[in-house]
Amino acid sequence: MKIQLTLSSQSRRRSDLLVAGVFEGQAPKSVQLIDNTFSSLLKQSFLSKRFEGKLGQTLSTFSASKFGAEILAVGLGAKKKYQAISARKIAGQIYKEAIARKAKTVKVLLDSFSGGDIRASEAVEIVAEVMKLAAYRFDRYKSKKDKKEDAAKELSVEILYESSHKEKNLKVSLNRAGIIAEGVMRARDFGNEPANVLNPERLAKEAKAMAASKKLSCQVIGPSELKRLGMGGILGVNQGSVTDPALIILEHGKQYKNKGTVCLVGKGVTFDTGGISIKPSKDMDQMKYDMCGAAAVIAAMGVIADLKLPKHVVCLAPAVENNVANNPQRPGDIIKMYNGKTVEVLNTDAQERLILADALAYAAKYQPKMILDFATLTGLCVYTFSDKASGLLGNREKLNDRVKKAGEKTGERCWELPLWDDYAELIKGNHSDLANIGGAYGGTITAAMFLKEFVPEKTAWAHLDIAGTAWCNAPRYDCAKGATGVGVRLIVELLS
Ligand code: BES
Ligand code: MN
Repeated sequence: MKIQLTLSSQSRRRSDLLVAGVFEGQAPKSVQLIDNTFSSLLKQSFLSKRFEGKLGQTLSTFSASKFGAEILAVGLGAKKKYQAISARKIAGQIYKEAIARKAKTVKVLLDSFSGGDIRASEAVEIVAEVMKLAAYRFDRYKSKKDKKEDAAKELSVEILYESSHKEKNLKVSLNRAGIIAEGVMRARDFGNEPANVLNPERLAKEAKAMAASKKLSCQVIGPSELKRLGMGGILGVNQGSVTDPALIILEHGKQYKNKGTVCLVGKGVTFDTGGISIKPSKDMDQMKYDMCGAAAVIAAMGVIADLKLPKHVVCLAPAVENNVANNPQRPGDIIKMYNGKTVEVLNTDAQERLILADALAYAAKYQPKMILDFATLTGLCVYTFSDKASGLLGNREKLNDRVKKAGEKTGERCWELPLWDDYAELIKGNHSDLANIGGAYGGTITAAMFLKEFVPEKTAWAHLDIAGTAWCNAPRYDCAKGATGVGVRLIVELLS
């Protein structure tokens, strides 16, 4: 999809569709400038209540305007309630409306989409990012490509702005949107790849290739080194697999170390059978998405490098396959973790926390001031939030607030659950320091309590349980069915 910015007075070719945003009860000036007939139609529609500018409402007509053969007004709702999330949904809707009309060229009146909480530069970022993401399809294994979808990818979008003094900022935003969208799509590709293709070894290879192209440093710790380091969690979980485990480490911006280091940790279980505590077969195919945490942090590193963020960031992605093929862990096995704590593996399906725990403890090596981890950790988190929010559990109120704000802005909402010490008794081991499950209740919290035992001391830490948000089972405004790439935008927003 080609997206460009044009000063409206310099816009030349007539497009198939011209789109304007309309706040509830407010006909925008820009529409009047472009087409008087449509402007009076809008006024009449307000009077007759056929179209009032309610969020998502539409009104369209064919036009003689030199800008577009058809004009479409999209309701933005009340101006004071207009926020990033509503603007994102509208951008997704514009994409859908354009495709439904088989439009090849679309002009978007930028100034009509800013207002309320959203400035013009943010509106550019949202429109460009969401439209690109809405066009994403994972079709590399389809022998016949869908023609309609191919045409959609070739949609050409022109964002029209009215005042030339904004140009520089708008161009920066457009460029940023392209970089971020590319990162989200990379994470989606990783997520959507089936487990017979994307195993730990392949994920490491992809991370290496990305690192080389973006000048990130990359280190992959393989089985013998993992043994030497005593990473009992990663090794234990991978024991049932015939492919090797890996701890993938990417590093950006070493020269900014003196300003403090941020570690990003992402769970990379390329397939989760559950192990000996095997999962029911219904929907088990979805467990190929159990590496979406790793996908998010790896892809985010690519974006961080492209945007040249002035920060020292280290990404740690433990990658394993939880299988029963080789010499799988048994329930009741006791393992010793990287930080020396012992864990009773009461349920081999609670494998995720074991690999994350080793990676979190290993992060101490970088003396981070902050750690963010992303993991499709618990099915119970999906019961709590459905696919509308990631679970957020952290040890600093301030950081939690920042994460929540970034979630609102990027459309990757997060909501907090408590991490009170009261929960610690639930994960005590019988014959070991810890157990890897905490009973039937409060599963999202006890999983995070387990991770907390491995977070380096005095480090601000936020854990994001993305079990419900990492993939969608039905198309969403900015995403086809499949991996969503959740986390990439949140990370970039937090570190920007
Ligand atoms: N991969 C799952 C988490 C998951 C489940 C994500 C369903 C998305 C949908 C994780 O490794 C897991 O199996 N968790 C168990 C933990 C339980 C055994 C304590 C779960 O949530 O069922
Ligand atoms: Mn599991």
